[in-house]
Amino acid sequence: MLSTKIWQFFWILLIFMVCKIFAQTMQRCPSHLSIRPCSCSVKKLGLDIICDFTDHGHINSAMTALKEQQNTVIFYLKLRHNNLPKLQGFIFLGLVVQHLTIHNSSLAAVEESSLSSIGKGLTQLDLSQNSLSLVPSPALTNLHSLIILNLNRNKIKDLRARSFAGLDTLEILNLYENKISNIDPDAFTGLDDRKLKRLNLGGNLLTSVPTPALSSLDVLKKLEIQENKITKIQEGDFEGLKSLDSLVLAHNQIREVPARVFSHMTLLNSLELDGNQITHVDPDAFIGLEENLQYLRLGDNNLHTVPSDALRRLHRLRHLDLRSNNITILPEDVFTGYGDSITFLNLQKNLIKVLPPLVFENLNSLSSLNLQNNKLVHIPDEITYQIIDTLRMIDLTDNPLLCTCDLAWFPGWLKSLEDKDDDLMAKKRTVCTMLPENREYSVQNMPLERMGCVGKNAGRMTSTNFSISFPLMSIVQFIFAISFTFVL
Ligand SMILES: *[C@@H]1O[C@H](CO)[C@@H](O)[C@H](O)[C@H]1NC(C)=O
Ligand SMILES: *[C@@H]1O[C@H](CO)[C@@H](O)[C@H](O)[C@H]1NC(C)=O
Ligand SMILES: *[C@@H]1O[C@H](CO)[C@@H](O)[C@H](O)[C@H]1NC(C)=O
Repeated sequence: MLSTKIWQFFWILLIFMVCKIFAQTMQRCPSHLSIRPCSCSVKKLGLDIICDFTDHGHINSAMTALKEQQNTVIFYLKLRHNNLPKLQGFIFLGLVVQHLTIHNSSLAAVEESSLSSIGKGLTQLDLSQNSLSLVPSPALTNLHSLIILNLNRNKIKDLRARSFAGLDTLEILNLYENKISNIDPDAFTGLDDRKLKRLNLGGNLLTSVPTPALSSLDVLKKLEIQENKITKIQEGDFEGLKSLDSLVLAHNQIREVPARVFSHMTLLNSLELDGNQITHVDPDAFIGLEENLQYLRLGDNNLHTVPSDALRRLHRLRHLDLRSNNITILPEDVFTGYGDSITFLNLQKNLIKVLPPLVFENLNSLSSLNLQNNKLVHIPDEITYQIIDTLRMIDLTDNPLLCTCDLAWFPGWLKSLEDKDDDLMAKKRTVCTMLPENREYSVQNMPLERMGCVGKNAGRMTSTNFSISFPLMSIVQFIFAISFTFVL
């Protein structure tokens, strides 16, 4: 009897709570007419409002209609492709907006009280592709819940002192493709809780690393300064960025990687230096990166050799990209000392003519090898034995290969990959030239028999099977010989 009562009580309580949660979260759209030409839909966490290709007047009346409803929670408010040069004060007053996008709308001025009135709930603000020539700092200063700020593709020329002051919770700041040439040493001062984890300064007009401004960002994980006009990096440039995990310096005009330049970033995992004009990497360039660097991109530069002396200390390196350089020669010890951890090696679009037989001897983990578009004529037998056990992808296309028996391993290896259900390789058609008839063959279909390769290379395709079968064969022969003697 008692227990039924208790159960009833719990049921009522449960229903009551469910209703309360629904009342809080279940939102209702205003009538279509009242917000025209904007559209409204109900999403799990609030309303989704979109106003595209309209103007301030229409947006303002849509906001008024939304304010007339009680407890409106707008999860997404997207204003795109509008004519909205100025965001008026109090335009959102009374609304709760969590994600606000004003994109491609000619926005040039943001009145202080326009955003501060929704400061409590706003977590994401996207003002990309507008006409802002300054960071609208006064309007931002009360956004104490903001996590992501996107100012990509505006016309910001400089970052003044305390541009982002007050944004205590900000974690991601994007300033890609502005016209920034000058960053005040105190530009990021005032981000007082030090939460900033990602900063994108790519596509601007910086000529050097803005060290004084960056040095306080001690929890920053990812820094992108690609596509600027940086000509020089030097020791001390990245001082203070001691938590950095990923640094993107691609597509600048850097000519040299000097000694100790990254030495403060001992947690760095990924370094992108591709698309510069690097001719020299100092042997001490990567000091400090020994324990954590795994990804290194040096493609599209002017290197004439693999900078092995600098790389040798990177004993965790997994991914090494050296595509599109001017590398002509690979010395036999080019990967000694650090090759053991490399799984991905890209040497495509270089000028490599010859592979020394033991060049890949240390690459015990190699899974992907790209030698596309070099000047290779032969691939020595020995090379394949060293890497064949781990290799899943090899690109030898666009080389002047000759059809000789040293390529006989290739069709068999390809076949074994097919068995492993790996179709990555199947699409690449590697060809070689057969002399003297000067005819081109797909390496997969070389006439091995006619070339006199059968039983020579093909049988030695896998080194392990060869070494096992050889002594086995001898034992069989031995036993056979003995029994034969006995029979006699
Ligand atoms: C930007 O908005 C204008 C209308 O104001 C539109 O004509 C144009 O196509 C938009 N541009 C992009 C890239 O969306
Ligand atoms: C690199 O090689 C290309 C093509 O051979 C050449 O045009 C370029 O001048 C070379 N660069 C350097 C720095 O040697
Ligand atoms: C190598 O030998 C093992 C057993 O000795 C066999 O299972 C495997 O299929 C062989 N591999 C090739 C490619 O012949």
